[in-house]
Amino acid sequence: MHSPIERKQPSFSLFLFLCITITFKIAIAFNIAIAFNVSTLTFGESYSPLFSKFNIQLSPDDKTVRLLLNRFSGSGIISSDYYNYGFFSASIKMPSRYTAGIVVAFYTSNVDTFEYNHDELDIEFLGNVQGKAWRFQTNVYGNGSVSRGREERYRMWFDPSKDSHRYSILWTPKNIIFYVDEIPIREVIRNEAMRGDYPSKPMSVYATIWDASSWATNGGKKKVDYRYQPFIAEFKDLVLQGCVVDPVDQIPSSNCSDSNAALMAADFATVSAEARKSMRLFRQRYMYYSYCYDTLRYPVPPPECLIVPSEREMFKSSGGLKGKIRFGGSNRRRRRAKRRSDAAIAASGR
Ligand SMILES: *[C@@H]1O[C@H](CO)[C@@H](O)[C@H](O)[C@H]1NC(C)=O
Ligand SMILES: *[C@@H]1O[C@H](CO)[C@@H](O)[C@H](O)[C@H]1NC(C)=O
Repeated sequence: MHSPIERKQPSFSLFLFLCITITFKIAIAFNIAIAFNVSTLTFGESYSPLFSKFNIQLSPDDKTVRLLLNRFSGSGIISSDYYNYGFFSASIKMPSRYTAGIVVAFYTSNVDTFEYNHDELDIEFLGNVQGKAWRFQTNVYGNGSVSRGREERYRMWFDPSKDSHRYSILWTPKNIIFYVDEIPIREVIRNEAMRGDYPSKPMSVYATIWDASSWATNGGKKKVDYRYQPFIAEFKDLVLQGCVVDPVDQIPSSNCSDSNAALMAADFATVSAEARKSMRLFRQRYMYYSYCYDTLRYPVPPPECLIVPSEREMFKSSGGLKGKIRFGGSNRRRRRAKRRSDAAIAASGR
């Protein structure tokens, strides 16, 4: 079949057409809707300013948070509590226009309590060059495993600066699932061989916007352009659901077993067969780097990697894409993507 996807240099309108078509296909594949049966919180009920309070704007109803980046500073918020497992979610609208060099992150971490053996789960949006697809990455660290990056990178199938979309992180004692809207895009199933690399200590939830000119876009060649400031990331539909604990208590003051059982029984904690189809489709079309297929870096894939043949055949030993990028990347673009990956990997050892 000669789909327009095969063409080398798609125009922007063709790109939009593809986005719409593919969104439709993913939606079809995902015909069992997961009802995220969760209640949303106001900012005051859930978060506190983390840095640069002057760049944090709250709506009058306290339900929408705008994080600004300008030439003085980025900004960030942190959950008021620590959670020992949970479901964390927000509808996020990315800054529009020129966003190269800007990173918007929604993540969990406990680096402030466990400096040398921290845990972390990341969703990071890596800015874009106008007219090109946005890119984002997910990552997992446990017990200070910063020398063992577990990153995956993807293109987005929609323009995340146009409307809000829900991004979610599920973290249970058994599995981790990253969601974009209702689509599970990555699942990490806990494996005994991961040992401490599986995050298991209480974490806070963060949302930040910052200047990552040195690496985020085209390996750092595209910098933040402050003529377009302020850059605004808007967060709403805030969900923090999990067992609240005191991180410095070695024996948690609250017994989390009931709340973790409820978390693991929630519909979003299991990837149904239908949802798995959508996940496969998403990963085959949009994933352009996975540590699981980077055999130069990990000759033996880390223990949690589930090698999917249809995914593996897409990648070279560097973990980058082997064939053509699905929506028409040229060789030049692929080489740039490779350099970007390398630079981002280098930078992710922060
Ligand atoms: C976590 O890291 C600490 C210090 O690096 C180490 O002593 C401990 O054994 C690790 N825990 C697990 C479960 O791997
Ligand atoms: C936690 O609660 C469960 C049942 O709710 C109970 O079986 C278990 O013994 C409790 N654990 C601790 C450490 O209190």
